[in-house]
Amino acid sequence: MNDLNTVVESAKAAFAQATTPADLENAKALFLGKSGRITELMKGMAALPVEQKKSLGAAINLAKQAIEAALNARRQALADAQLQAQLQAEALDVTLPGRQRGQGGLHPVSITLERIEAIFGSMGFEVAQGPEIETDWFNFTALNTPEDHPARSMHDTFYVEGGTATAPNLLRTHTSPIQIRHAVQHVKKHRDALGAGSDGLFSGTMPEIRVIAPGRTYRVDSDATHSPMFHQCEGLWIGENVSFKDLKFVFTDFCRIFFESNDLMLRFRPSFFPFTEPSAEIDIQFQSGPLAGRWLEVAGSGQVHPNVVSNMGLDPEKFIGFAFGMGPDRLTMLRYGVSDLRLFFDSDIRFLSQFQ
Ligand code: DAH
Repeated sequence: MNDLNTVVESAKAAFAQATTPADLENAKALFLGKSGRITELMKGMAALPVEQKKSLGAAINLAKQAIEAALNARRQALADAQLQAQLQAEALDVTLPGRQRGQGGLHPVSITLERIEAIFGSMGFEVAQGPEIETDWFNFTALNTPEDHPARSMHDTFYVEGGTATAPNLLRTHTSPIQIRHAVQHVKKHRDALGAGSDGLFSGTMPEIRVIAPGRTYRVDSDATHSPMFHQCEGLWIGENVSFKDLKFVFTDFCRIFFESNDLMLRFRPSFFPFTEPSAEIDIQFQSGPLAGRWLEVAGSGQVHPNVVSNMGLDPEKFIGFAFGMGPDRLTMLRYGVSDLRLFFDSDIRFLSQFQ
């Protein structure tokens, strides 16, 4: 019996020493395997008389059960330890802040441009685009700008390579060249459709030109309210009977919707632009809020000059209309109460994220 206790104790000790499942299975073989200690003891009983066989057999069985129980306990303990180790290795600190993805958003000027497009879109205006590098013809000459006009001077215009010595290419100083580009395309399209040829000014029937043209523009200028790159949005409505009163209602509607203010007042102040005659500067006045009571200039406008209508390929005796050019940057400043234009182009996320 003592022998058996010793076997059980040494099995327990061997199992306790095993630190991996493989070690444990090797230790098991020493006691329960084919030539393990218990198996050997069983074999040794063969020669004993029946009575002894019975009692010793029962005792060996008990010892065997004790060893199996110890084995199973150790197996479980090793499995638990392994699980714990794995959990620890893969531990996740859910109290740490997550990696943020950063929510993007539209630039305030883009928000304004989308708003302008939506409002004019609802009034039947399409959106046109043109190149930022322009020729002297589209930027100045076609728009009836005299050779000696101060806007052409090196101080106001960024000239770039290309073009001719007397008419170099430039960064467009306004979106007005798109008036000409778009109208010429429009006229060509409808002339072609009518099989009207391309000679002379067009005086046939065509759908009205009703378009806005937003985009980047450039001037040699930089202070709190001027940036060398800024935005403009051109408007053009040409038909057979489009008048100044149409300009007034279109622009008044636009401003009141844009600023969400029904009592916003507008003033068309006589002015001069080479490409319009008569011309007007458009001022607005808020009736409430921090800007109330002051006239604020928001656009230039006018009835398109007959020379410009001709340069569009249209007969000015038949076609007439209006144009305007406004500054989306300035509209954004007024809408949000921003006093320095340069903030829009510094790309400081602390400023820009306020508009989301
Ligand atoms: N192009 C002018 C500017 O940059 C703005 C302007 C005035 C556009 C009158 C127009 C217009 O279409 O009719 O100052």
